[in-house]
Amino acid sequence: MTMQSGAMRPFIVGNWKMNDAGTGVIDTIAKGAPEGADLMICPPAPLIAPYSGRGVDIGAQACHGAASGAHTGDVSAEILAGAGASAVIAGHSERRADHGENDGAVAAQAQAAWRAGLRAIICVGETEEERANGDALAVVSTQIAGSVPTGATSENTVIAYEPVWAIGTGLVPSLSDIQDMHAHIRQIAPSGVHILYGGSLKPGNATDICALPNVDGGLIGGASLNAADFLAIAQAALSPGRVKP
Ligand code: PGA
Repeated sequence: MTMQSGAMRPFIVGNWKMNDAGTGVIDTIAKGAPEGADLMICPPAPLIAPYSGRGVDIGAQACHGAASGAHTGDVSAEILAGAGASAVIAGHSERRADHGENDGAVAAQAQAAWRAGLRAIICVGETEEERANGDALAVVSTQIAGSVPTGATSENTVIAYEPVWAIGTGLVPSLSDIQDMHAHIRQIAPSGVHILYGGSLKPGNATDICALPNVDGGLIGGASLNAADFLAIAQAALSPGRVKP
């Protein structure tokens, strides 16, 4: 990943989850991608191959830790790389909840990603209750300690802060809470990694959120299914008012 002088080049990742927005959306994003930002779409695994090579980087949403073997229904990082993925999301809260992925499993996925030459986009974030109890920073510290393996670098790893209660709800933390969390992650994460914000990131709030220090892009669910919204968020991340330390 290339760096802009003075500021990190924004990385804008769309997580389509178990949805197919279609090649039309991929092609519109490819045509409209703004200069100066790196864009990626993570579709369901079977769509990685057909959607690769159309002008947008393609990532996967999860992988197994092993390269191959008797793991029915799972997909290895090597197979994802062969299909055209250049990154894999690891530890999204929906995987942690639906599939019981704990920090150790997430770390194994990150290592599998690196083994296959993929970048790992490792997700962390507190629940509503943890935030209400004042434990958000501590929870995220524990998740980073357990799910970001030794050997993580700014080249092979991206960290996405996604408060669980903000995902798909239209709720977002206050700007100062986002800023505090990203500053905290910057202190404990490997030097120079991109730190993305995710959770109800939309065209209407992206300019303010992406302008915060240590917010280096976004992980976008619902709004990534619409090319105009996704491109508007990418553009907002580049807005002229954006001041980086
Ligand atoms: P959302 O999802 O943008 O729909 O809130 C974000 C995510 O789950 O990555």
